[in-house]
Amino acid sequence: MEKILVTGGAGFIGSNFVRVVLRERPEWQVTVIDKLTYAGRLENLAEVQDDSRFRFVQGDICDAKAVAQAMEDCTMVFNFAAESHVDRSLMGDPEHAGAFVQTDVYGVYVLLEEAKRRGIKRFLQVSTDEVYGHVPEGYSLETDPLEPRSPYSASKAGGELIARSYFVSHDMPIITTRGSNTFGPYQYPEKLLPLFVTNALDDLALPMYGDGLQCRDWLFVEDHCRGILLAAEKGEPGEAYNVGGGNERNNREITQTILRLLDKPESLIRRIADRPGHDRRYALNCDKIKALGWQPSHDFEVNMAATVKWYREHEAWWRPLKSDAEYQQYYQRNYQERLKESAAA
Ligand code: NAD
Ligand code: DAU
Repeated sequence: MEKILVTGGAGFIGSNFVRVVLRERPEWQVTVIDKLTYAGRLENLAEVQDDSRFRFVQGDICDAKAVAQAMEDCTMVFNFAAESHVDRSLMGDPEHAGAFVQTDVYGVYVLLEEAKRRGIKRFLQVSTDEVYGHVPEGYSLETDPLEPRSPYSASKAGGELIARSYFVSHDMPIITTRGSNTFGPYQYPEKLLPLFVTNALDDLALPMYGDGLQCRDWLFVEDHCRGILLAAEKGEPGEAYNVGGGNERNNREITQTILRLLDKPESLIRRIADRPGHDRRYALNCDKIKALGWQPSHDFEVNMAATVKWYREHEAWWRPLKSDAEYQQYYQRNYQERLKESAAA
């Protein structure tokens, strides 16, 4: 029996992870600590809120007192909490980029200190393929240098490095996963897939950055969650594990798939000014996690269709998020000017 702390468990991947764990590890108990930023939603955990094995604490991972209370009696920590959206890290004001450094670096340090004090048996740091930076050809190996290029990916690399230092200096059982672009239910509608699906449902423009030929490796959220769980249970302390879906697609292909599934016209696509410093390609070699017994279990096309269907059927989940004043302000700031100068794709 494990008692695990899941930070950021009200977000997209964290909430899916909680559901996977309660389903597949019935004897485990799960505490979530989440600050409930704009991206953290209690609705994402509605399915488990009455489960006696589940406990929710609202709190900030940068707050040592809140972390100490949440981590009480825990044997394992899974750190999902993060500022996670690249575009927000590029907004240009200190309020935005600063939040990334605060949560994604300092927050990791606060968690590590408490985990050290308690002698936690596993600390799983959830990281990203973006720490490798742009990969023009081939596939990133865990031993490749970290060359992050956005404030988001640099903060995530910083979080990884501080975690690794606690393995080296304090012999703590730290394991890191580097996941690729994840898709599935409950993703906040600022990321490509939920944004384009929900815009298309409303016949709104789909704002595609630059030429749309940037490549990402798409990974279904439950596969990502199982990779994280396996790495924590079977991985070697001090090691990092790539977790990628093996589904390399460019943004144009993903957008065309979405439009086809919704039976909407390609004329909705608008080419807008590119994201600054936009990495053209990420691609992972996942042999190391596969050697532990992990495989993406779902077919990409099937999962894309199921995900698009989920957003179509869960308007009551995403529509209030998109009409929220904070979202509207973000949307206008990031897209309004670019859309005025946009071109048809
Ligand atoms: P998300 O933005 O949907 O969720 C992040 C959660 O963290 C939210 O619930 C938010 O309220 C919470 N949070 C933020 N700051 C906090 C703080 N200071 N204290 C406590 N809680 C806080 O993000 P996501 O897409 O679910 O990503 C989860 C993790 O996975 C992140 O670490 C991200 O870097 C990593 N990751 C994401 C992807 C992806 O494609 N989404 C891929 C690889 C890795
Ligand atoms: O690769 C893993 C990363 O994937 C995670 O670490 C991040 O937390 C997660 O947000 C995601 O980062 P991306 O920047 O790749 O995801 P996003 O959905 O923002 O963008 C996917 C691609 O689509 C990227 O090339 C930028 C492009 N895009 C995105 C948006 C939001 C557009 O063309 N237009 C858009 O409006």
